[in-house]
Amino acid sequence: MFNSRIGLIAVILWVATAGVFSWFFVHGNTEVGSDGRNAIVLEAGERSLILGEMRSLLVATQGVVQGIQQNDMKHVAQSARAVGMASAVDVNPALMAKLPLEFKSLGMSVHHDMDDLAAAAESGKPAPELLGMLSTTMSKCVACHSAWQLKAN
Ligand code: HEC
Repeated sequence: MFNSRIGLIAVILWVATAGVFSWFFVHGNTEVGSDGRNAIVLEAGERSLILGEMRSLLVATQGVVQGIQQNDMKHVAQSARAVGMASAVDVNPALMAKLPLEFKSLGMSVHHDMDDLAAAAESGKPAPELLGMLSTTMSKCVACHSAWQLKAN
C-alpha cells in the first residue's frame, strides 16, 4: 500500500514535471518586451551566451561575403561551417527550455543553412547562387530580430 502510494506520487510528479517542461519547451520564458517585441527572459550569463553566438553569426556572414568577393571559396566554406550545426549542439537543457520553440527552430534552421552554404561553396557553386543562399538565410536573421528581444533577469 505504502509502496504503491509512493509510486503513484512519483508518477504524478513525473507527469507534472514533464508537463511543465513541455510547456516551457514550446512557449519558453517570455513576456511583452520594452519595444513591443516578445522578450525572452534569461539569466545574464545565458543572454551573454546567445549574444556571443549572434556575434559569431555576424563574423561568419562577413566572412562569407568577403570570400565570395575575393573568389576564395575555402574562406566561404570555413566561415559558414564555423556557425553550422556542430556549433549549436552544446546548449544546456535549462536554457533550451526558456527559448520558445519557434525561436529554436528558426535558430537551428540558420545553423543548418550555414552547413548547406559551406557544402555549396565546396562543390563549386557560382557566386550568385551562394549570395542567394546567404540572402535567404539573412532573411531569417531579420525575421527573428524583428520578433524577439533578450532580457536579462
Ligand atoms: C532565432 C532568432 C535569431 C536568429 C535566427 C538570429 N538572431 Fe541575432 N539576435 C537575436 C536576438 C533575440 C538578439 C537580441 C536582440 C535584442 O535583445 O534586442 C540578437 C542579437 C544579435 C546581435 C547583437 C549581438 C550583441 O552582442 O549585442 C547580432 C550581431 C546578431 N544578432 C546577428 C545575427 C545574424 C548575423 C544572424 C543571421 C545569420 C542572426 N543574428 C540570426 C535572435 C536571432
